[in-house]
Amino acid sequence: MSERDPRAFDTVAVHAGDAPDPSHGAVEGPIVLANAYAFESAVDAAAQFAGEREGYIYSRWRNPTVEAFEQKLAALEGAEAAVACASGMAAVHGAMLASVRAGDHVIAPRGIYAETAKLLRTVLERFGVRFDFVDLTSLDAVDAAWRPETRLVWAETPANPVLDLHDVAALAARCRERGATLAVDSTFATPYHQRPLELGADLVVHSATKAIGGHGDAVGGVVAGPAARVAEVRELAVRAAGGVISPMNAWLLSRGLRTLGLRMARASATAAELAARLEAHPAVAWVRYPGLASHPHHALATRQMQRGFGAMIAFELRGGLEAGARAYDAFSLITRAVSLGDLRTLVTHAASTTHRSLPAAQREAGGLTDGLFRLAVGIEDVDDLWADLTQALAR
Ligand SMILES: Cc1ncc(COP(=O)(O)O)c(C=O)c1O
Repeated sequence: MSERDPRAFDTVAVHAGDAPDPSHGAVEGPIVLANAYAFESAVDAAAQFAGEREGYIYSRWRNPTVEAFEQKLAALEGAEAAVACASGMAAVHGAMLASVRAGDHVIAPRGIYAETAKLLRTVLERFGVRFDFVDLTSLDAVDAAWRPETRLVWAETPANPVLDLHDVAALAARCRERGATLAVDSTFATPYHQRPLELGADLVVHSATKAIGGHGDAVGGVVAGPAARVAEVRELAVRAAGGVISPMNAWLLSRGLRTLGLRMARASATAAELAARLEAHPAVAWVRYPGLASHPHHALATRQMQRGFGAMIAFELRGGLEAGARAYDAFSLITRAVSLGDLRTLVTHAASTTHRSLPAAQREAGGLTDGLFRLAVGIEDVDDLWADLTQALAR
């Protein structure tokens, strides 16, 4: 890893990757929308193409606004480099493409963002990559699934849907010993709460669409890690496969990063308070929040996460599907929407919406019980949120 920026998180978030524009001194860097850059001469063009002179040639390859976002994110993750991608899924795809080839085997968690699982099943399998979905919270299960051709372990921590935690340091030690890559989808934690590279992971991946952007107005993704690994992701996923982020979105994500610490500090403190209140509420069967002592991986969360435990809460409302749908209908301040990491608090009820088409037994096997809610806590006032939650749970 590169030398770590010695400044505090919030200072790095505001300043890394940013400098006044040299052409006019504007303190906010420009959004460079140009798709191509003029050469000074034939000699200059040839030198740039030969790699003898550094410059911007074409925006799928390099763009100053995108680079500013990448530098800020890399500094916050303590990474040598980062590459921005068109979406979180483009970043997941890029990290996988750069880590496996035909004949290789992937170990991935059973509880995982559904489209990451779909990517393995529908895309990578076509190209001869094998995989097993295992209980990644159990190192014994990981060892049992390990094959000589295992080249990638994919962790997502905290993970969908019930906020399981995966032990990054323990998985990293196994990967190092056995010659595999450990990639960690750290979307739920953000670099404010968790720095997987410092725990030994090879690559960290984010859906920047979520808390990194933070305002619900941009789609993007990022992969961070050692410069050579990141260059490979850039070459495969961005240059060759074309999963390039737009400069406008990169700028919005940089702007979001500057306030990440402020937003996460507020949202995670509110989430901790709401999780404790929900746990004591008679209509709630159970609550999963990494900061609660009742969370089965609370000790790991305390070791692995910092400055709090994030803004995501899962809880089970008593009364099954009908009660769940009634409560979902009743939310007023809290917005019924997918996604997370927004300024606004968002709520999803999987059984009546995203996972409605699955048979109940299959939903339950994946931890998606009929009364399961996922609350993505924003920065509103805690008592206003609690008032909306309690009136909805009373329906
Ligand atoms: C944990 C996780 N990883 C990856 C993604 C994909 O991100 P995007 O929607 O930006 O493609 C999501 C989206 O919800 C997610 O929750």
